[in-house]
Amino acid sequence: MSVLATTVNGVARIEIARPEKKNAITAAMYQLMADAFAAAHDDPAARAILIYGQNDIFTAGNDLEDFLKNPPADMNAPVFQFMQALGYAEKPVIAAVNGAAVGIGTTMLMHCDLVYCADNSIFSMPFVSLGLCPEFASSFLMPLNAGYHKAVEKLLLGDPISADEAVEMKIVNRVLPPDDVVDFAIKQAERFNLLPPASVRATKRLLRSGWKTATEKVIADEANSFGQMLRSAEAKEAFTAFFERRKPDFSKFA
Ligand code: COA
Repeated sequence: MSVLATTVNGVARIEIARPEKKNAITAAMYQLMADAFAAAHDDPAARAILIYGQNDIFTAGNDLEDFLKNPPADMNAPVFQFMQALGYAEKPVIAAVNGAAVGIGTTMLMHCDLVYCADNSIFSMPFVSLGLCPEFASSFLMPLNAGYHKAVEKLLLGDPISADEAVEMKIVNRVLPPDDVVDFAIKQAERFNLLPPASVRATKRLLRSGWKTATEKVIADEANSFGQMLRSAEAKEAFTAFFERRKPDFSKFA
């Protein structure tokens, strides 16, 4: 099973569970996660949603092989359904990160409401080195959180982000020992069981309303560029190099 969904004590838990491939996410997995969000939305017993991975890996991001073979065809593709479900979730979404959070693994955190990570976490958004560009508003939300020049280091140069730096950059709430992260995130999520749900939903909506329209515009703009780049020769070279375990050679591209 690659995604496990279960609701325990008011928390809809979504576990990315494909450790043999470092939790790389396929289209089928995005669909399962989108379905889990829809079920949590409809379940009055679920007061909050928790996303997490394994003790040593959150996710290696999009499954590169799946991406090459089945690039998202349009805005109805499973990856969009998942990110829409996350971005428009009315209930609070909490993420618990251990290990690497690559690409969409970091992007999705900027759409969560609370993010906790282990001191072994490493965040990265290597879109440019993959011949791609940012997606799902990371080109907007990253500078909004961390400032333009920091965002350039992370998105244009693709520099990794340590756990402490992620807190400084305001994309993570708190760093914890690896064994404590998921338990702490569950406790935080369970606090919503004691709060009035309509007030929680209204407050979440209001907190995010200031940049909602801008976010939607950027997502559409990025999707347009990303879709073209995913089919480009630059991306093909980058993806092939990853599976051939060699450095990509972009010298032939103008
Ligand atoms: N897509 C498909 N397969 C992936 C993957 C991905 N994004 N990330 C890892 N895997 C696979 C590897 O191919 C390998 O498979 P194999 O055992 O059949 O050869 C397996 O998962 C283990 O990966 P490996 O690279 O050996 O693990 P590691 O611990 O040395 O490194 C990462 C972990 C996450 C740093 C590294 O796998 C990585 O950089 N992955 C690619 C991240 C990426 O570019 N994501 C896309 C962002 S848009």
